[in-house]
Amino acid sequence: MKLSVKGMPINKAVANIGRSIVIKGWIHRKRSSGGKMFAVIRDVTGTVQCVIDKGKVGEKGWASADSAYLESSIIVKGIPRRDERAPGGVELDVEELQVVHSGEQFPITEYQSAEFLLDVRHLWLRSQRMINIMKARAHIFRYARDFLDKKGFYEISPPLLTSAGGETGASMFEVQYFDQKVYLTESSQLYAEVMVPALERVYSFAPSYRAEKSRTTKHLAEYWHLEPEMAYFDNSKSMALQEKLVSSIANRLGKADEETVKHFGVSPESLSGIRPPFKRLTYEKAIEILNDKGDKKKWGEDFGVEEERLLTEGEKLPVFVYNWPREIKPFYMPVNPKDDRTVLCADLLAPNGHGEIIGGSERIWKLDELMERLGEVETTQHVKFDKEKYSWWIDLRRYGSVPHSGFGMGIERVIKWLLNLDHIRDAVPFPRMMNRIKP
Ligand code: 4AD
Ligand code: MG
Repeated sequence: MKLSVKGMPINKAVANIGRSIVIKGWIHRKRSSGGKMFAVIRDVTGTVQCVIDKGKVGEKGWASADSAYLESSIIVKGIPRRDERAPGGVELDVEELQVVHSGEQFPITEYQSAEFLLDVRHLWLRSQRMINIMKARAHIFRYARDFLDKKGFYEISPPLLTSAGGETGASMFEVQYFDQKVYLTESSQLYAEVMVPALERVYSFAPSYRAEKSRTTKHLAEYWHLEPEMAYFDNSKSMALQEKLVSSIANRLGKADEETVKHFGVSPESLSGIRPPFKRLTYEKAIEILNDKGDKKKWGEDFGVEEERLLTEGEKLPVFVYNWPREIKPFYMPVNPKDDRTVLCADLLAPNGHGEIIGGSERIWKLDELMERLGEVETTQHVKFDKEKYSWWIDLRRYGSVPHSGFGMGIERVIKWLLNLDHIRDAVPFPRMMNRIKP
């Protein structure tokens, strides 16, 4: 067979009962008994068990199949036949085969430590588990974009190299940029804000970098950040958009990726059941609930894993916590006119302890208010603003400024929650963590 022979996706091939077809894939499992070999071949669409008969494929074909390893690439011509006993109910009787690349013994066997699987991530990505996660990931990217595109948003392309922080600035990676030190962006929000007077509703979907020294199941040093920014949206309207976005992603995943999500023990129905409105708790109310549950958090303190868990336990839908104390939130958030101890913002917490999936707020849009807040944050949060470095962003408040809001969704956190993964590192193909930069 020529390597260029036209193949058929396995999920389509198995429907061609009694007709000769060609599939192109990789050997997923293999065993032989007597003059027969049973090889499960996989491609991206599925798997099928192939029966290789020494008498039918000839000495050469048999020998090459016999010496092939797991994960060897292979082209098989054969005839699908119904068989109750076969996984998927169909078996393929092989007429001809061609091992494309036999290669070497595959290093991953059945039981391996998580650390080893991270070392050989470049090979582990072919596992059924990772294939399913990567399919869901690609679709989730599309569902998120589709939702926003339909709402009139424009996707923008922010720079990833920046001269100043976009968030707290406390945990950025430094990069040598010609003769100066710059940073890998921690958020593209400030650039999204620049685009608002031009395009009104925009989003950037790009990596953000965090040099936080936290070894948790929720933190990556590099993650993909979806950051919409909208003219004339207040915090409440922004929350309404967030819950629709999250529901739309979950619903489409439950419907179009039914088989994929089942692989993780997630019921498609539970995903279809995610719909607005989500519960909205003020920070103050959240503190009350926590205290009632015996948690000792006092007004003014930030929440940790335990508080996030307590606030979402028993919940099927994510929960908003809004209007947080001004001392623990960033410089761009406006003070709440109804309670000046707080700023107009919201965090969205996923159920089952998966934690914060979105952080968002209104943005200060008036120059004097912004200068006041920057000064305040410098004293209360001990961050130094180099006004020169932020001059372009401050400038927006000089020319045709409008009220606006925006938010940032960590896409790996969303994947972790929707597929109920133990660790965020599996939600991304090449996790960047404190102790890992390879492969
Ligand atoms: O809450 P954060 O820090 O907010 C911002 O960066 C805003 N500037 C976003 C905006 O308004 N445009 O981050 C937003 C989200 C979090 O809710 C979380 O989902 C995710 O980004 N995130 C992380 N995901 C993985 N690993 C990390 N280390 C993350 N840090 C934040
Ligand atoms: Mg946050």
